[in-house]
Amino acid sequence: MGGLTYIDFLAKFGVGGAHPGGIGLTKSLLSEENINQNSKVLDAGCGTGQTAAYLYNQFKANISCLELNPIMIEKAKKRFQSLQIPIQLIQGSVEEIPFQDQSFDFVLCESVLAFVNKPKALKEFHRVLKDGGRFIANEMTINSKLNQQEALEIMKFYNIDSLLLESDWVRLLKETGFTEIKIQMLKQNLADGNIAQEFNFSQNFEPELFSILNEHGNMLVKYHDILSHRIFICSK
Ligand SMILES: C[S@@+](CC[C@H](N)C(=O)[O-])C[C@H]1O[C@@H](n2cnc3c(N)ncnc32)[C@H](O)[C@@H]1O
Repeated sequence: MGGLTYIDFLAKFGVGGAHPGGIGLTKSLLSEENINQNSKVLDAGCGTGQTAAYLYNQFKANISCLELNPIMIEKAKKRFQSLQIPIQLIQGSVEEIPFQDQSFDFVLCESVLAFVNKPKALKEFHRVLKDGGRFIANEMTINSKLNQQEALEIMKFYNIDSLLLESDWVRLLKETGFTEIKIQMLKQNLADGNIAQEFNFSQNFEPELFSILNEHGNMLVKYHDILSHRIFICSK
């Protein structure tokens, strides 16, 4: 694949709501939380900023976005500018979050942990959350253990270092110090795709990105019983 990754595909295609359930699930999860104009919210790994824009428009909350990929940053920036909404957008890594301890009431992490050093990023999320703050994550989760060859195929394609069962996530969250862990999942199979997916294409992109899109589809079909996700909602 010439070094291009699944994240490169998402960035160049400008996929908004690049997580299972898309913006529809995000809206329903956020409606359960007590977010208001005084809330400080971090959208960690915000992608093109669809969720952050919704958060501002819906709750007028104080939103910060952290994102590593420069193309994602550019697209999020354009979105916020064209909507004329005041969102702080910072380029940086969730593994080393450039905010002080106890900065946020909410940290939202939609399909980002899968792609990073999970214990490191979780520790950072916990650090920047205020006591009593809420952490909401929607992350790739396997339903059962895979054999080594299958696991390697998935990890290589998504360029990720591990595949976690629900029980692995819960252990990690507890080890990090999170409490009151609640778990949900979508009934819909990932292979059925997100409804109303949003795209914001770059002017130039490598044709091989279509192969990545294709391969992503193949993975979801091939591993439809195993490759899933979970929503983890917890407190600090
Ligand atoms: C699957 S996308 C999800 C994007 C967005 N949360 C959404 O739901 O549309 C994963 C995002 O995580 C970002 N990302 C990957 N590693 C990161 C890191 N170390 N720090 C911050 N963002 C990262 C990618 O650039 C990408 O935008």
